[in-house]
Order: sequence, then structure tokens, then C-alpha cells
Amino acid sequence: MVSVGSAVPDINVSNQQLSQLVDTSDEWITARTGIKNRKILGTNQSLVDLAVKAAENTLSKSSIKPEEIDLIILATSSADDLFGSAGQIQKRIGASNAAAFDVTAACSGFIVSLIIAHQFLATRTYNNILIIGADVLSRWVNWLDRNTCILFGDAAGAMLLKSSSPDNLLGFKLKTNGKNNHDLVLPQTSKYKKFTSDLTIVQGGYNYISMNGREVYKFATSEVPKIIQNTLELIDMVLTQVDWLVLHQANKRILKTIADKLGFPNDKLISNLELYGNTSAASLPLVLDEAIQDNKIKTNDIIVLAGFGAGLTWGAVVVRVRCSTKIIIKFHSLENSNNSYSFEVNKTMIF
Ligand code: UT7
Repeated sequence: MVSVGSAVPDINVSNQQLSQLVDTSDEWITARTGIKNRKILGTNQSLVDLAVKAAENTLSKSSIKPEEIDLIILATSSADDLFGSAGQIQKRIGASNAAAFDVTAACSGFIVSLIIAHQFLATRTYNNILIIGADVLSRWVNWLDRNTCILFGDAAGAMLLKSSSPDNLLGFKLKTNGKNNHDLVLPQTSKYKKFTSDLTIVQGGYNYISMNGREVYKFATSEVPKIIQNTLELIDMVLTQVDWLVLHQANKRILKTIADKLGFPNDKLISNLELYGNTSAASLPLVLDEAIQDNKIKTNDIIVLAGFGAGLTWGAVVVRVRCSTKIIIKFHSLENSNNSYSFEVNKTMIF
């Protein structure tokens, strides 16, 4: 069983605001990317704060208690702690019995984590797994570099998985091309410290995101259609059986080109990047959560999820979705007022 949830920060940064920082315009950004707005984390908040919100939102839509979670996988490239932030999330949500670790695979991080989680479920090693995709790339982008600062936003999304029979994760494929790693990097800085004549060390630190946009664009639009096609072939399915394409929300032109190359109808392409920009590892659960809440994705729908980004890494997963509705009945007993009932409807997804 799966429930999906998400969390976004409150601060909006519009294209208009960016045009005051760098030589760009709302027209250019809208036409080239489809992005109108992105949300960024405030100074007093951390990636863990955002990830915890997404995890709690996801848990609230399921009947699974935090202590029943066996494993937490945090997909992020912007952890608060280079040693990993999953442990802090485990503590904050009270998942006292869960093992927890981070996965770093940039914008493919959520797909990679979903596949890792599926392996543990398929082998019956674990029963309940929480995967979280969270990134705060606003903290790693050069706000004076117009090639990158227009693209990224902060967010977190999460998914709770339970093994099911039959297995509704129907197939997957993952690929990496390290030869083109240099096209999208967040590299270490090389600050040398010479202590003695024969001891010089490199002091750790990180630079800004550096990207060859055109090359990443070409990579995404040529490789993602292929991997989707190959994944479907692997499980003897064809594209006409697919109800929705849920792609990493990088750029509207990229999404449209991928759909067009596959001959897939554009109105079956799920997208919300206009409001949030590219939220890296969070983009898939964020857009999926919205599509389920909006009643777009329904029970028995077949969806293809695909991620792509730095590494270079890319992957596709084919899933059969089951949606159910969890109804929460709240009883309010307020002083000086009549007792009243309220109904809250939450959508839950079951793979
Ligand atoms: O998760 C994966 C993360 N990365 C991506 O998804 C990025 C993939 N790449 C892209 O989305 C696109 O390549 C960009 C949106 C980054 C750029 O769009 P493009 O259509 O590929 O533009 P370009 O890089 O070919 O640049 C065209 C022109 C250049 O000017 P000249 O050389 O033709 O005079 C750029 O300097 O646009 C200029 N330019 C801008 N102009 C206004 C580049 N960035 C901007 C900007 N505002 N922000």
C-alpha cells in the first residue's frame, strides 16, 4: 500500500523578482521553461524540517504508525548533514524501529529510492518503507547565474510503500552515463591548507551548481523516451496502455518533447512546474500528490514515472495505481458552542 504526501515552503520567488537579480525576463523564462514561480526555504528552516512535514503529511493519509516503519530512504543532494539526514527524520517522526539512510542521485533520487525500496519489499525483507525526496537547491544555486537560478525550487515529497500481492510495481530500468557527469555538477571546492612543508590538505566545501543546459536538455529528450519504451518492452506492455506520464518536472519543453517523441498525448502529461520549478528529488512525489488529490490519477491507472538529471542518471518505473479514500471523522467539543462533527477526506494510493 502507498500513500503520497508533500510539503513546500512559503516563500515565493517569481520570474519578475529574478529579472531584478539577473539579465532575464518573465517572457524568456516562461517561453523556455514553463516556470512562473518557485518556492524557497526560509532562513530559519532546514531540509529536515521540510522532509518531516512531507513525511507526516504522507503518514496522516495511511493507517501505518511511525513505529511500524521498517526503513526510511531519504533521496537528497542537499542534506543538512553530509553524513546523512535520514536519521534526523527518523527521530523527528518517531519511527523508532526504522533503519534510515540517504541516497544521492540528484533529480533521479526519488526513482532510485523507489527501486531500492521495491527490492526490499519484493524480497520480504521489510514490510513498510517510507521514501522521501527532498531538496533545497536554492542554497546551492548561484543566484547571479541566469543559466541555473531560474530553474530550481525547494520542496519535499514522500511515499509510504507496503508489499502487495500482486506486485503493482510492474517494471523498471535505471541507467547512468558517467562520461557526461561534467554537464551538471555541484563540485567540491579545492581550498588547500599547507600545515607543514610536507603536509598539505584539501579543506572540504562546495561550490555552486554548474550546468551545461543545452547538453542536459539533449540528454533528457533523447534518453528518457528510450528508457520508457525499453521499460515497457521489458514487461510486454505498450504505450497505449499507459494512462499518465509523470516525469521529473525539469522544463515544460523537455516534458513535451519526450511525450511527442513517444507519440503520447500531451493532455496525459502531468505537470505542476509552473508553480514550483525544478524541485529535484522532490518533483515526482510532489506532482503525484497533487494529481491524486485533484482526482486526475485514479484507481487501476497505469502510470510511468521517469527521473533524469545529474550523474548523469535516469530511470523509469511502471506502476499500477490503486486509489482509496481515507475518511477521518473529527469530533470537536468546543467550550461555549454546540458539539459538532467534521469530515476530512484524504486520498490514499495503493500500489
Ligand atoms: O533536472 C535536470 C536539471 N537540468 C535541466 O533540466 C536543464 C535542461 N536544460 C534546459 O532546461 C535549457 O537548456 C535551459 C532552460 C537551461 C536553457 O534554455 P535553452 O533554450 O537551451 O537556451 P540556451 O542555453 O540555448 O541559450 C539561448 C540564449 C543564450 O544566448 P545567446 O548565446 O543565444 O545570445 C543564453 O545566453 O539564451 C540566453 N539565456 C538567457 N536569456 C535570458 C540563458 N539563460 C537565460 C535567461 N534569461 N535566464
